[in-house]
Amino acid sequence: MRSASKIKRSCFLSCAFVAGLSWVRQNRPAPASGLGMGLAQVCRDNRAQTMKNIVILISGSGSNMAAIVRAAEQGRWGERLHAHVAAVVSNRADAQGLAFAKDHGIPTAVLDHKAFASREDFDAALMAQIDRFSPDLVVLAGFMRILTPAFVAHYAGRLLNIHPSLLPAFAGLNTHQRAIDAGCRFAGATVHQVTAELDHGQILAQAVVPVLPNDTAQALAARVLTQEHLIYPRAVADFFSRRFG
Ligand code: GRF
Repeated sequence: MRSASKIKRSCFLSCAFVAGLSWVRQNRPAPASGLGMGLAQVCRDNRAQTMKNIVILISGSGSNMAAIVRAAEQGRWGERLHAHVAAVVSNRADAQGLAFAKDHGIPTAVLDHKAFASREDFDAALMAQIDRFSPDLVVLAGFMRILTPAFVAHYAGRLLNIHPSLLPAFAGLNTHQRAIDAGCRFAGATVHQVTAELDHGQILAQAVVPVLPNDTAQALAARVLTQEHLIYPRAVADFFSRRFG
């Protein structure tokens, strides 16, 4: 026979145990699937809000780079696309575009190709420089260098170029004079993915302008350039909406 005090104590302990169980039930974490979904949402939100970095390479006037920077500012790419121009890199210290970038608060870097023994050495140093800015997209904007296969492979799928012709016509140099000499009625510009074969990657955007009677290469180049300034920023914005939107 158990004493009354023992019975009372065991009764108290059982009640405490049951009360404890019910507290644990009420306060336990959400079921695994709910928790998983919550985490997935947080991950999605964080990914969407991570700022994507654009690195632009120039060699000269940098008017296409300036058009992209202005479009990013005016179009509030930071808020809308979570993308910004993180750096402008030039292979020439006298590239006029560098001053524009600095005026707009964009970090700049110069890497003189003449200081390197080989194309491979220069491209390796250039990759190291670009990668300091963790690029999601590298934009060639009048960057007058032939790139090594290693460079192109390193940025595969995140490397764009603008070429002043309606590709696949007139890949290479002197596009405007060649279009005039060929008797073309129309010329233009192409934004394309960069692949190992020069000026042959997937076409992302094109703009067409007329070739006028008695056009000079300079006059045609100026007409084409006004259109480049429209299609290149649009193609860069599309890249981020398509890939991360
Ligand atoms: C542009 O015509 C572009 O198509 C070509 O080089 C020129 C660069 O001009 N690749 P800018 O430096 O952007 O003013």
